[in-house]
Amino acid sequence: MIIQKPKGTYDLLPEKAFSRVYAESKIREIFDLFNYREIRTPTFEYTSLFKRSIGENTDIVSKEMFTFNNSEYSLKPEMTAPVIRAYLENGLYNQSPLIKLYYISNMYRYERPQAGRFREFSQFGAEAIGSSEPFIDAEMIVLAAFILSEFQIRNYKIKLNNIGTPDERKKYLEKLFNYLNKFKNDLSEDSKKRLQKNPLRILDSKMPEDRKIIENAPRLYDYLEQSTIKNFEQVQSLLSGLGISYEIDYFLVRGLDYYTSTTFEIVSDELGAQDAIFGGGRYDLLTKQLGGKPTPAIGFACGFERFFSLMEKYEYCIPEENKCILYIVTSGNKASVFALNLIYELRKSGFKCEMDYLNRSIKSQMKEANKINAAYTAVIGNNELDSGKILMKKMSDGNQTEININNINNFLINENKTGKTG
Ligand code: HAM
Repeated sequence: MIIQKPKGTYDLLPEKAFSRVYAESKIREIFDLFNYREIRTPTFEYTSLFKRSIGENTDIVSKEMFTFNNSEYSLKPEMTAPVIRAYLENGLYNQSPLIKLYYISNMYRYERPQAGRFREFSQFGAEAIGSSEPFIDAEMIVLAAFILSEFQIRNYKIKLNNIGTPDERKKYLEKLFNYLNKFKNDLSEDSKKRLQKNPLRILDSKMPEDRKIIENAPRLYDYLEQSTIKNFEQVQSLLSGLGISYEIDYFLVRGLDYYTSTTFEIVSDELGAQDAIFGGGRYDLLTKQLGGKPTPAIGFACGFERFFSLMEKYEYCIPEENKCILYIVTSGNKASVFALNLIYELRKSGFKCEMDYLNRSIKSQMKEANKINAAYTAVIGNNELDSGKILMKKMSDGNQTEININNINNFLINENKTGKTG
């Protein structure tokens, strides 16, 4: 029996892998345009990093981590904590008071797999560390919207909220708990469990029985200080000025504990139950929590699989893969040895070419050249080796040009220059 891939993982076969790499390179260009620089961190970190940042009572840390070596290490379930760890450990704050970083990396969460939800998935994301100015909040959201528009993804919704500071939340949490507790028997099973440990998360529930109760729950917004509200209004007015449409969702709470102040999500109706494409927000207290100086920061991450399925839905056009410019058809061992050396030289000059490695007949080699859409084919056998001449056959029109066998490189350079290969 063939061993299958683990649940919640997927293979990227060559065609999809090519499209993904293309999308990644375009996303890198956009991050560069906004002056964000790439950071890469290890695949696993000390488990304590995620406990201290994401929070012990969150679903991610309490149920979804791939933890090993007596719980010492965990595969990273997200990148914000590793980025801040790296920022502090490498003293990046010495380089500039504002550090703008991006990443494209695989993440691991032991979740129940379903459409759009994987146990190994990929995120691209950005973190701007050092500024508490609403301008950077606006830039972060504009950046996400810019990426979506560059990939022609439409009909998404930007949901915006401000969840204040832990102090502002304290009084609210008491009110929220008292309110929800009145309905504790009517809450969903999951929400019943969350009531004691993390009542804020109940606001995020999609269960219809919970939604009915949440509709009339007290709003955190009504417990925010004037300064927080003013900041939130500034972010909104900057976004409106930039022509970005958003919706305020007073019950948008994120599933990670480090958030403060501005939070946002971008959702799409085209994705089914797992409708969040981007999630992000401020985490002004995280650097301090992880042992550094208090440093305001904001970021987002986007699930690549969900993003990619929207790219496909909106029929984003990925350019075609480069085709081979030359397929060498060989006849006999001597010709194969010659061809092996020849295509090695041609590849050194940057020409994508191919030959036969299966000892196939000339006819099936020709078929293969057609199948891979090679621009030219050339047959090499004893005659060609003796005479030093070969026929370069242009596959698009069947025209043949006789050239000196040592002249293939120049011939291809010339053909490429004049664009005659198509
Ligand atoms: P998050 O909301 O946990 O936030 O994840 C961000 C995005 O990653 C989600 O909106 C979704 O598109 C994708 N995602 C999450 N889990 C899965 C999964 N199991 N399968 C497929 N896609 C998934 C964070 O990770 C924060 N670190 C974002 C952030 C950066 N906040 C500030 N800076």
